[in-house]
Formats: sequence, C-alpha cells, structure tokens
Amino acid sequence: MVHRALALRSVSAAPAAVAAAVLLALTTACTGGTVQGRPGASGLRDPYFPKAGNGGYQVEHYDLRLAYEPDSGSLDGVATLTAKATQGLSSFNLDLDGMTVQGVTVQGEGARFNRTGHELTVRPADDLKKGETFRTEVRYSGRPRTLEDPDGSQEGWIRTEDGAVAVGEPLGSMTWFPGNHHPSDKATYDITVDVPRGYEAVSNGELRSRTEDPAGGRTVFAWHGTEPMAGYLATVAIGKYAISTGRSRTGVPVYNAVTPGEAADSAAPLARIPEIVDWGSRRFGPYPFSSAGAIVEPAGTLGYALETQTRPVYPGAPALEIVVHELAHQWYGNSVSPKSWKDMWLNEGFATYAEWLWSEDHEGITAQERFEAFLAGDTDVDPAAGTEWDAFPPAAPPAAGQISGEPVYYRGAMVLHRIRQEVGDEKFFALLRDWATDHRGGNVSTADFTAYAERRTGHDLRKVWDVWLYGKARPTL
Ligand code: ARG
Ligand code: ZN
Repeated sequence: MVHRALALRSVSAAPAAVAAAVLLALTTACTGGTVQGRPGASGLRDPYFPKAGNGGYQVEHYDLRLAYEPDSGSLDGVATLTAKATQGLSSFNLDLDGMTVQGVTVQGEGARFNRTGHELTVRPADDLKKGETFRTEVRYSGRPRTLEDPDGSQEGWIRTEDGAVAVGEPLGSMTWFPGNHHPSDKATYDITVDVPRGYEAVSNGELRSRTEDPAGGRTVFAWHGTEPMAGYLATVAIGKYAISTGRSRTGVPVYNAVTPGEAADSAAPLARIPEIVDWGSRRFGPYPFSSAGAIVEPAGTLGYALETQTRPVYPGAPALEIVVHELAHQWYGNSVSPKSWKDMWLNEGFATYAEWLWSEDHEGITAQERFEAFLAGDTDVDPAAGTEWDAFPPAAPPAAGQISGEPVYYRGAMVLHRIRQEVGDEKFFALLRDWATDHRGGNVSTADFTAYAERRTGHDLRKVWDVWLYGKARPTL
C-alpha cells in the first residue's frame, strides 16, 4: 500500500514537474518573444479620420519601387516598409485604397493578408515582438484611383494629359502605396519610378540617379528623402516636364519640373524660390530640408496647390504668394507636422501668416493692416477678407469637410497676429523661429503650441486662445 502510494505519488509528481517546466519554457518564450502577439489597431482614432493610420507599429522607412504606364494609367509597385513594433503583434494593418495586392512578406517569409475597405491586414508567419524592427514587402498593381475629399476636392492619383501626379492631403497617399497613412507616423523615403523613355518622374527630396535602359526604352528615377516625412506629403509626378535646377544663396538645391504649357507664366514666380527659401531661413530658422523646388501641372489638374515635401505641386503657373505659402509649409506642416487633422491651423494659419509677413517685408502692406482688413471685411486690401473667415474656431473645425476651411487659414493667421500684438515683435519672431527649430522633424498639437507660446514669451495668452482659437463667436477687439 505504502509502496503503491509512494509509487503513485512519485508517478503523478513527475508529470507535474514536467508540466511546470513546460509552462516555464512557454512563459520565457512569450516574454522573450515569438508567441502571443495581438492584432494592431486598424486606426489611430484621429478625430476626423478615425481609420487613418494603424496602431502597433511605427514606420521608419519606405522604399517604394514603382513602374508606371502613362498611356494605360497602370502602376506596378513594390513597397518595402521597415517598421518597429510598439506591441507584440499577431497581425497589423496597412492602409491601401484600391489596387490589387499580389503578395506580402514579413521578414522575408510569405504572410497571409486580407482586405476590407482601405484596411490591408497582414498576418505574419511568426508573431512580432514588442520593440522588434521588421521589414514588410507588398507587391501590388492596378490603376490607382482618384479620391474625393469630404470637402469635394480631388486627391490621390490624378491623371494628366501626359502623365499623372499624386497628392495626398488628407488621405490620397493610400491610393498609390500601402502604409501607415496618418501624419503622426513620419518616416524617411526612397521612391524609385520607372517610366517610358521621354517621360520625367519627379518626387520628394534629392534625385540620386537617373538611369536610361536603352534595351527596354525606359528611364528609372531614384529619389531620396533624408528627413522624416508624413505620408500625405509624398508625391510622384510623371510627365513631359521642362526641368530646371539651381541653388539658393544659403546653398539649398532647387529642382523644378514645369509642364511646357505653363513654362512662360511660371518663370517669374519660380525664379523667386531661392530668395523665398533664404527669406524663410531668416524669418523661421534654417530651411529644414536638403532640397526645394516646384512641380507645375497643367492648370485645372487639381483645385489647389499642395505643399508636398521639398517640392510643392501647383495647378498651373502659381501666383507669388502661393509659392510663399507652400514654401512656408516646409517649416510649418512638413518639418513641424500636426499630431492629428484637428491641428490643421498649425499648418495653414502659419503658412497664411507667412504670406502676410512676406507682403510686409516686400510689398509694404503690414500684417496689422491686413488683420484690420479682415475685421472690417475690406476686400481691397485682401480679397480673402470677404470670405467666411469667422465661421468657426480654427482649432475646432466642425467636421472633416472643414479642415481646409477658410477660418483654419485666415482666422488661424489672425491668432498669430493677436499673439504678436500681445507680446511685441521681438518675442513674437523668436517664438515663430524657436517653435520651428525646437520641433523640427516632429509632431505637435494645438495644446503643445499654446503651452509653448506662453512659456516662450512669458505672457498669459488665455484670452487669445479662448476668443480667437477656440471661441465660437466672431471675435472682436
Ligand atoms: N494644404 C493645401 C495648401 O493650403 C491645400 C489643400 C486643400 N485641400 C482640400 N481638400 N481643400 O497649401
Ligand atoms: Zn496651406
């Protein structure tokens, strides 16, 4: 009996020890790594575009290899993303609207994927562990689409007479490459574009190489963006452009691509780019990127200009103040980017105020005169003074369709002028510069700005925020 009992006990004790050892090994494996990830979020809960972007990882670099056929409008792409997991991941999402996905790999191994709306869900063979840097390759093709914004504007992939241009504010970049399409996740980019010979392909940053392939009758353009970029600022422009290059006095290289029909009217405004870059460097601090330029499309290609990083896109020859506006975005919007689409006034209010400052420095209309013209609705001083600039508070657009509304631009600029009135020129210009310098390459919210402005100037600006930035009523002095 006793023996049996002992025997039984010892027999039963053995599996328990084994089970404990197995459990310990499993726990070690979990915390050490390969099991027990969970799905990354399918959106970043942006107040206006909750499904834009994805959770669970951050992209460090995009390597986009694209081949385009201007005649058919078809695009072949291989996107390689290097990203870092911010949690254990059993699956994660990318945003891609349209196109056909041929295959996805993670860490070189085939991954399962499925698609719902613009969400591409990728299930790697092995879970990814928190903190791990991983590479995902997506092969895709199709005819990238044009999107209609909540405000009725067109964005995404837009075909032109002789090619196409991609613009992505706020969501259009997901039509031509898979990614984490929210401004809070910035990354560096290599964009390579293969086009039929005779076409130019222009993108962000610096042109690293331009390779003719005589056998295939193709040209391959390799563009590189060194500084972090929000996905909405990525562009590719394909067409038969006239290319011109130059350099600003402070040494910033300029690369312009102009559709021939707009070349004559573009010459004068584009010739001022070096001067504007250097003026901005004095007013706002050192130019934040390693190149600058412009892409001029046929008039009517789109209904607005966009500050695509280093090289804004213009629909037709731009007016000088539009060039000033888009270049000012390189500091405000592109280098210092919004944390969410609610913070658009940090882009547009600043870029509009830059126009006012340019005019003050070069044309003799002071920002104070312009500010007063808005209050009085005096369209002789500024035609925009007749718009509904007072319709809503710039820091709280009522809906997604209004993130590019007039108050975001004009009342946003008036917020800055109100700060200037309170603190005086010296502190105000130091604030403009230091804001850009201290947040270079980063992301900011409205709350970050209001706290920074008070700290930097030593003034209590609560009234300015309450009345001008957040107040629903039309502000008065
Ligand atoms: N950010 C652009 C600019 O002010 C304008 C974009 C307008 N987009 C729109 N959907 N309305 O330079
Ligand atoms: Zn703007």
